Amino acid sequence: MEYRFSGKSGLQLPLVSLGLWHNFGSEDPFDVARSMLLHAWDRGITHFDIANNYGPAPGTAEITFGKVLREDLAAHRDEMIISSKAGYLMWDGPYGNGGSRKYIISSCDQSLKRTGLEYFDIFYSHRYDPDTPIEETMQALVDIVRAGKALYVGISNYPADKQQECYDYLRAAHVPCVISQYKASLLMPDTLTNNLPVANNNGSGFICYSPLAQGLLTNRYLNGIPAGSRASKNVFLRPEQVTDDVVAMAQHLGSIAAQRGQTLAQMAIAWLLAQDVTSVIVGASSVAQLEDNIQAIHNITFTQEELQSIQCAVSPRS
Ligand SMILES: NC(=O)c1ccc[n+]([C@@H]2O[C@H](COP(=O)([O-])OP(=O)(O)OC[C@H]3O[C@@H](n4cnc5c(N)ncnc54)[C@H](OP(=O)(O)O)[C@@H]3O)[C@@H](O)[C@H]2O)c1
Repeated sequence: MEYRFSGKSGLQLPLVSLGLWHNFGSEDPFDVARSMLLHAWDRGITHFDIANNYGPAPGTAEITFGKVLREDLAAHRDEMIISSKAGYLMWDGPYGNGGSRKYIISSCDQSLKRTGLEYFDIFYSHRYDPDTPIEETMQALVDIVRAGKALYVGISNYPADKQQECYDYLRAAHVPCVISQYKASLLMPDTLTNNLPVANNNGSGFICYSPLAQGLLTNRYLNGIPAGSRASKNVFLRPEQVTDDVVAMAQHLGSIAAQRGQTLAQMAIAWLLAQDVTSVIVGASSVAQLEDNIQAIHNITFTQEELQSIQCAVSPRS
């Protein structure tokens, strides 16, 4: 594994990080989740990305991670970067969602309990909340660091102008924003134009989520929608998103990837790593998928011809 510095900080992150949004909850097989975490660790993935609401059920990905850490990896706590977040709906009533100080701090406390950790390495505001002053949310992050509950702070999904306000506030409070987390992939490149330059200009690292468009940028749906796949669950990825056009595009991209000696998943991750980003957070439902994704790091340079062919393949057909 290779590691990159997160922006202008001293924190290094692996090119590939592992996310626990899906497949690590109480409704998923624990043995598979454990195998993926151990495999990631063995392959040099030192960064695990979690959030309060990951499961399903919400909160249970943190419980799974905490159990594996305690039972298998406890000796390695200081060699790991463990992130959690608060921002989306977590519990009923006015204090279980958004960016209020009340929500952010109590959610961080709950996440520490669920994981059994003494502190998170990175704690994020998961989203911009238009109903809460940014100063309140950012000060909550600052106070989490001051209380020793996190070492660094990050932001996720903030629009570019609000992103800048976060950086300014955190810098002035001497708790600079170590990382900014945005959705980015060959199918969703907008944040690389809109948010990546803002992060770079402010010395914040940039980490991409859903690099495989939740599986669309892989071979997962080339022969229909497999049972148990994310599209089959019809929540975050819907079967109707797996259109004939998307499948044809995946086939076309797959043939470009094959010429590079890569799978489509590997090329999609490599394409992001070829931009000025710190790390890419992959999801997986098996060790084989995870290993496929890790192999992306062996070829992250592209010729102009390859980039043009990729661009043609992803451009909407008229
Ligand atoms: N900050 C935020 O708001 C936010 C939002 C979303 C995600 N995230 C973070 O980003 C992480 C990754 O998101 P994501 O899970 O959407 O990422 P993704 O890598 O785009 O999608 C992962 C899914 O793609 C399929 N897949 C992965 N590797 C494959 C391979 N080699 N071959 C075939 N299929 C493969 C699997 O689907 P199946 O399950 O169908 O096998 C897997 O669950 C999350 O876990 C979370 O940590 C953050």
